[in-house]
Amino acid sequence: MGSVAEPELAEAHMRQLLGSLGLDVNYVRGQANTLYFLDNGQEHAVVDFVGGYGSLIFGHNHPKLVAYAKQLLDAQVPIHAQFSYHPYANELATALNRVHRREFGTAEDYRAIFANSGAEAVETALKHAEMDRSIRLAALGEQIHSHVEEARAAVAAGAAVVADQAYDTVGVTDRSADSYERLVEAVHRHNEPKFARSPLFLTLEGSFHGKLAGSLQLTHNSAYRLPFRALAAQARFLPFDQPAAIDKALDEERTFVFDVVVRDGVVDVVERELPVIGGFFVEPIQGEGGIHEVGVDMARAIRAAADAGGFPVILDEIQSGVGRSGAFFAGSHIGLTGDYYVLAKSLGGGLSKLSVLLVRDSRYQPDFELLHSSTFAKDAFSCHIAREVVQMLEADDGAAYRRVVERGDQLRAMLERIHSAFPDVVKDCRGRGLMLGLEFQDQSTCDDEIIASSARDGLIGYVLAGYLLREHRVRVFPTASASHTLRFEPSVELTDDEISQLESGLEAACQLLHERAGARLVGA
Ligand code: F0G
Repeated sequence: MGSVAEPELAEAHMRQLLGSLGLDVNYVRGQANTLYFLDNGQEHAVVDFVGGYGSLIFGHNHPKLVAYAKQLLDAQVPIHAQFSYHPYANELATALNRVHRREFGTAEDYRAIFANSGAEAVETALKHAEMDRSIRLAALGEQIHSHVEEARAAVAAGAAVVADQAYDTVGVTDRSADSYERLVEAVHRHNEPKFARSPLFLTLEGSFHGKLAGSLQLTHNSAYRLPFRALAAQARFLPFDQPAAIDKALDEERTFVFDVVVRDGVVDVVERELPVIGGFFVEPIQGEGGIHEVGVDMARAIRAAADAGGFPVILDEIQSGVGRSGAFFAGSHIGLTGDYYVLAKSLGGGLSKLSVLLVRDSRYQPDFELLHSSTFAKDAFSCHIAREVVQMLEADDGAAYRRVVERGDQLRAMLERIHSAFPDVVKDCRGRGLMLGLEFQDQSTCDDEIIASSARDGLIGYVLAGYLLREHRVRVFPTASASHTLRFEPSVELTDDEISQLESGLEAACQLLHERAGARLVGA
């Protein structure tokens, strides 16, 4: 039966698109920053600057992590022992807390809830934030309820009368018999739909927080988000670098409910603010949005708004965290402390899939543990590997972070050289540590039709990726939401030779763009 071709059932549509760009390579082996593919039985090496979309701070198959994984398997570690005591999860949480205390100078503990992927940790944060908001809503509801009862008793005892102004506020015109009850009905009619409303989450333009039902509504790219907007609570996307826009948005979203008060024998109606904001999600350095670091003023404004509004700041460090920025938490560079953190990607050392939500002790809801779980979350294998990753970063007084900074500086210097050599082709170079971006000028009006149409279709970054792979054996990608920006997230093992190989490739690609040689870029 070997002559009949098997149908391709695993995302054939995607492979076709990759094929059209020369990117449908089958990598058979990976080590550090090198991926290998086979051609005529021979291995060919490709330098990988994609780094698993930032999930490989120690590179592909780091020998120490691989040895440790083998040791765990040889020791028959029970990987799935749900609903039992998990000291290894506690050790990981403790290690993460130790790092957090050092980088932020805080004394408070952060409690850990484990999950499997980045988007899942974001969804876990959404749920926890909504549980926290529900508790605040319930407290407000209780308060209003007891005030209504107090006023009812005072009216019944003849100790209080309802102010005309109170009826006016709630729109009751008929003040005949049983008028206090009419007032209460009107208060409830006004309040109920407001209490039932979905929370609103805040985040920034350009943000990426995942593609599951809830997290997708926090992801700015409208092509991903809008078709599924009916599935979940919505986010309001704020400008990335306008601190003043935060208070303006909060003023617009402010929602009030009625409460009843008795003062000096008079029943009146007052307004109380309803907690509508579920939380503020922030990537300290946006990755998928094209490598943009939140500014210090913006960070300060986000923190102040959350403190004033009583909602949590949720730092999505899924991509920027776990050493990538030269610190464990990228938020530490801009002085932005989170009430929650979400970590994933590199935490699994490139071998295991895990994510974690950390919640500040004072905001943590212990009952959440009874409501949230996953078959695979908090498994022994992932927790042990992740603890090893944290240890490797923290070893020798943080030598790995210093190496990220040093390697990042070398890579950045090279990208700056490309930027200044080709100002008509390259628009900007930015980022921190080993999370760098090179933004290309908009080529959509270029007089080479191949280049112009690729730019218009949002494919120019992928055309460059195809060229660099084919001609220079270098693997890079733009992001879907910033298709003019190539993103570089190699591992800390990055060598000078690898930087040189990328430099030659980028120089040649920029030269072809400069010469408007689209046909040569696509290999036509
Ligand atoms: N949050 C951030 C900041 C991310 O970068 C990603 C994924 C996620 C959440 C979702 O994590 O894929 O494990 O569910 N970013 C990838 C990217 C896909 O292209 O940067 P996931």
